[in-house]
Amino acid sequence: MDSISCKFPSKLNVSKERTVPMHRHIARRYASRKVGRIAAQSRELRTVGVPDYERYDYSKRWRHLELADSAEKETIRRMLWTSGRCLELGGGYGRITSLLEEIYDETLMMDLSQLNLRIAQSRLDKAGLLRGDIRRIPFRNDTFDCAVCIRVLHHYPNPLPVLQEISRVVRRRGQVLLGVPNDKSIHNRLFNSAEETWVDEHGHIISNLGSRAIKGIPLVETVRKGTGLFDNNIGRALRRLRFLSHLDVYSSGMLALKSLVFISYRNEKPEDNADRL
Ligand SMILES: C[S@@+](CC[C@H](N)C(=O)[O-])C[C@H]1O[C@@H](n2cnc3c(N)ncnc32)[C@H](O)[C@@H]1O
Repeated sequence: MDSISCKFPSKLNVSKERTVPMHRHIARRYASRKVGRIAAQSRELRTVGVPDYERYDYSKRWRHLELADSAEKETIRRMLWTSGRCLELGGGYGRITSLLEEIYDETLMMDLSQLNLRIAQSRLDKAGLLRGDIRRIPFRNDTFDCAVCIRVLHHYPNPLPVLQEISRVVRRRGQVLLGVPNDKSIHNRLFNSAEETWVDEHGHIISNLGSRAIKGIPLVETVRKGTGLFDNNIGRALRRLRFLSHLDVYSSGMLALKSLVFISYRNEKPEDNADRL
């Protein structure tokens, strides 16, 4: 398939060595937008340990989980700090990206899966899309005010290299928001031990992330909230009762009840962090 070399939005501080190819038609569309749509297609980026998101339409999982979906979005909305430039990592089909593009001046979403990116492209208005591996983020230091990574890091037995990259590209004192499984929840302890092992060959150890686990990475936890009351059959059955999602949002501090935690960090990296790209 035809591809051309892509320049990222000029305001973004991308490293030239790591630009990626993109489709011509996407390039044309991008040219008319403030923040473009970018999709690289020619590289094989499949990783070990991650479900095959080229065959798995993740949007189907959320089709009947409106209560869980709106509770997650509302909780995230309340936790985000400011406007500016936001990078979403592993944004999938753009579920959370649609919220981020409302809040931030510029939003760029990165994912490995072409299938997900194609669906995202049809759902989103402004956000730029980039196919790439979040373990090697192709931007210079301090490019973003905020990074958001929801339901992704649990795929990796060792998420520290990703967190290192995130801290590098987010400016000093910028925000990092992660959504990770909550190993402290009663629900996960009772029901998920077989299905979602916290440490398996796909690595579900990220649940222990928090103030103690991020050794050597200057992320300081500021707030922790949870959702997940309706991320189940009850949520599917009651999904017409939209107002119930408020219950999940208002009880977001009751972490023992929540299967997913959102953790907000402040990026306290030193001022003289040289550009390592
Ligand atoms: C469970 S989905 C979550 C999608 C989205 N964050 C959400 O909450 O709706 C995980 C996503 O992470 C992406 N992903 C996993 N490993 C990745 C990597 N190394 N680089 C980029 N994307 C990755 C997958 O392609 C998939 O779209």
